Amino acid sequence: MNRAGRSIDPFAGVQAATREHQRRHGCGAYTYQDGTLPGAVAAAAGAQRIVEVGTALGYTACWLATATPTTRVDTIEFDEDHVRLAREQISSAGLAQRITVHHGDADDVLASLPEDQFDAAFFDGFTPTATTIRALRNRLRVGGVLIAANLTLGPAADVLDGLNDPKVWLSHSFGETAICVKRDPLETM
Ligand SMILES: C[S@@+](CC[C@H](N)C(=O)[O-])C[C@H]1O[C@@H](n2cnc3c(N)ncnc32)[C@H](O)[C@@H]1O
Repeated sequence: MNRAGRSIDPFAGVQAATREHQRRHGCGAYTYQDGTLPGAVAAAAGAQRIVEVGTALGYTACWLATATPTTRVDTIEFDEDHVRLAREQISSAGLAQRITVHHGDADDVLASLPEDQFDAAFFDGFTPTATTIRALRNRLRVGGVLIAANLTLGPAADVLDGLNDPKVWLSHSFGETAICVKRDPLETM
């Protein structure tokens, strides 16, 4: 923490490069405001395997990888320039051995990843769809945590209803982000 109460960000350079890229290209690489949030949630979960939708230049992927010294992150990005730049940034941060950048559409890549194996997931693509949220849920083990961002960008009502269904998730929303823990639907409350 610095004197203003903000955490010192080891990946501030990646975030600054992302903002500069977004300004120059007018693309969708809007970097998450503060990587300490997904980083702290993943660390609290002791997450060993994490999947992320929406790499941009890798800012939050780097933060997620700090959850434990051995955490591995699969991050998904469909813009080939972002994929190339993310791999450069992640390599410079010394995290290339622990972060895999997948090039492709989220739903296609998620289908190729194993089910029930991930401890945490971060959705930071554009507006979340029911299909993508379902695919992320299927990748999480019971008790795994989904951090879902961009919830104020106009997702369909069934997406928000699904995330707030207490039989499916234990959820807490604040601003445009929700923290959702996967429940076993067979367990009664
Ligand atoms: C909000 S930015 C991600 C920011 C990044 N997490 C960070 O904090 O720096 C969204 C990124 O998701 C990518 N994206 C959006 N929809 C996608 C999809 N369906 N599949 C793969 N990537 C997607 C965009 O190209 C963009 O780079």
